[in-house]
Order: sequence, then C-alpha cells, then structure tokens
Amino acid sequence: MSDDVGVYDAMSTLRAVRRLRPDPIPDDVLRRVLDAACWAPTGGNVQPWRVIVVKDPAKKKALGEQYAKHWSEYHAFHLERIKDASDKEIEGAKKTLRAGDHLADHFGETPVVLVFCFNPKIMAITDIKLDRPTVVGGASIYPAVQNALLACRAEGLGCVLTTLLCQSEPQVKELLDIPDPWGTAAVVPIGYPVGKGHGPIARRSVEKMAFADSWGEAWS
Ligand SMILES: Cc1cc2nc3c(=O)[nH]c(=O)nc-3n(C[C@H](O)[C@H](O)[C@H](O)COP(=O)(O)O)c2cc1C
Repeated sequence: MSDDVGVYDAMSTLRAVRRLRPDPIPDDVLRRVLDAACWAPTGGNVQPWRVIVVKDPAKKKALGEQYAKHWSEYHAFHLERIKDASDKEIEGAKKTLRAGDHLADHFGETPVVLVFCFNPKIMAITDIKLDRPTVVGGASIYPAVQNALLACRAEGLGCVLTTLLCQSEPQVKELLDIPDPWGTAAVVPIGYPVGKGHGPIARRSVEKMAFADSWGEAWS
C-alpha cells in the first residue's frame, strides 16, 4: 500500500483528507507512522509529547460525538465568515465543509485516531515571558504530528490534523485517562481514503511568504 513518494512530493500533496474508509490499518504500517512521529525534533530533545492510538470503537464514538458538536459550530461560523467572498471562494469553502461534515458524521468509524498530548511542565517555552500568546511550546509537539502526517502520505493513508477537540480537553482527558499536567494538542483521524486521497494543494507562493534580509523586502 506504501506510495514510493519523495519528500518534496509528499509535502506538496499532503492535503487534508477527511473521507476515510473504516478498513483496518495493519500494525506494521501504523508502527512506521509512529516511528516517524518519534523522529521529530523537540526543544532540548525532551520529547514532551505522547500519542494515544485510539482504536476502541466506544472511545472513537465518544470522541466523534464531541468532535461533531464543535464541527457544527465551526461550520456555521465559517459560512458566516465567508459570506462576502467571491463565488469561487464560497464554492471551494463549501466543498471543504462538505468533506468536514463527512468526517464529523463518520469520525467514530475511522480505523485509528491519534491523540497527541503534551506536558507543559517539561517543554522549552522560550517566549513565555513575552506579552503575546506563546507559540514556541507547540514547536516541540507539532513537528511530531507533521512527521506522522507525512508518513501517512507515504503509506497511502488519508489523514487530517484537527484541533477542534482541544476545546473538549477535560472530556478527552477523562475518556482516555490522560493524567495532569498533560494536555491535548491535536487529534489525527487516519485511514485509507475513500477517493483519491492526497493531491494538489493551494498555498501562497514563496514570493508572498519569504523576505530578503528585512521584512517586506522581496526575496528573489
Ligand atoms: C493547526 C491546525 C488545526 C486544524 N484543525 C482542523 C480541524 O479541527 N478540523 C479539520 O477538519 N481540519 C483542521 N485543520 C486542517 C486545515 O483546515 C487544512 O489543513 C487547511 O484547510 C488546508 O487544507 P488542505 O491541507 O486540504 O490544503 C487544521 C489544520 C491546522 C494546521
């Protein structure tokens, strides 16, 4: 099932896949995905994250019920946010929302749900004293999540990084016996795709994203 895909191809086709088949994922495939997560760098090499591999149908169903609640709020909020956008943008957004509705409706049937947890007490958070929301702590967690997503891509598995369930952290902690002070950073449903799965992505170009030497200076 593994796709012979180079790293640049994997990165440039790693789109959110929200229509997943319930077919089981072989343990050796799952092992490679988890290995990839463990290879990620972390501040001080502390690895302040853990992942819970949820296969239990009752637990997946409970996660799915919470997820569907947050998704329906997000769906309504997003429709409102884009109401003045162009017809093309609205059509694109509606397509994504339909895929999101599918995931919300079938979350519990996903073969595997990865729940990434973090321990804020042992993370390197170098921006913690600044007068703005901190982001550096996440840099010791999300590279592991991204490695897992890329490995899924290489294995022909569909997946999507989700964070809506972080709003239900107390319920998720209770359901999965996650102790204090651990928190939840991301939930990744994975499974073989219903359709083509990964494919072209729409992103801003380097010209818009990168500067030369100073902010605003065009990079060429
Ligand atoms: C931090 C973060 C949080 C996200 N949370 C969710 C989520 O809760 N549910 C979901 O369906 N997609 C979620 N996504 C997926 C994004 O919506 C998706 O990557 C983005 O729309 C681009 O789509 P594409 O990857 O298919 O090109 C999240 C992505 C990131 C990076």
